[in-house]
Amino acid sequence: MPPSAVGIRVDYFHDASDEYLALLGVARDRLPEREAWRRASELECTRPLGQRSMYAVLWELDGDPVGFSTADRIVLGESAFMHLHLVEESRRRQGLGTAFVRLTVEHYLEVLRLRRLFCEPNAFNTAPNRTLQRAGFSYVLSRQGTPGPINGFQTTTLWVYERPASAP
Ligand SMILES: CC(C)(COP(=O)(O)OP(=O)(O)OC[C@H]1O[C@@H](n2cnc3c(N)ncnc32)[C@H](O)[C@@H]1OP(=O)(O)O)[C@@H](O)C(=O)NCCC(=O)NCCS
Repeated sequence: MPPSAVGIRVDYFHDASDEYLALLGVARDRLPEREAWRRASELECTRPLGQRSMYAVLWELDGDPVGFSTADRIVLGESAFMHLHLVEESRRRQGLGTAFVRLTVEHYLEVLRLRRLFCEPNAFNTAPNRTLQRAGFSYVLSRQGTPGPINGFQTTTLWVYERPASAP
């Protein structure tokens, strides 16, 4: 994601309804203030890989930005946690999420040199749980906790994608 595009993510969370944030397991009072978050995200996208707390991927369809993924808890050469979001509801449930996740997984594995990639959605949010399985992730466990800095306490499911043994 180029620094100029980070607003798609910041606005997506800030403009979301309370009901939608609850489905995602995101707590509105834990979102950084909009402009400060935008500036911090822009800066983050310019840092060298080894200094990143977050790496973002913009999802484009026919040149239009339609969604994004971020990776955080990055341990270069080892593991990271990914997130997946199609911004417009009308774009969902057509196979796009699965296609973008597959492409994004390959990108993260290559750029961050990962051995495994995790994703930990809210357990009651069916869409990512189904999509991760379809994109080749394996279920690890369910647990309760606060998975990230913008999340509230919730029940989550942990999924993993292991780098194939045959991969270079
Ligand atoms: C998660 C998301 C990226 C998935 O993308 P998508 O394009 O909607 O998913 P796909 O069309 O590729 O569907 C993949 C699978 O999920 C299922 N699915 C998708 N949305 C669903 C929903 N709302 N309810 C039930 N099943 C759903 C599909 O039926 C399909 O299942 P199958 O393998 O049994 O056929 C997208 O739905 C989204 O952005 N949702 C809102 C944000 C979100 O919840 N992000 C997760 C935060 S961790």
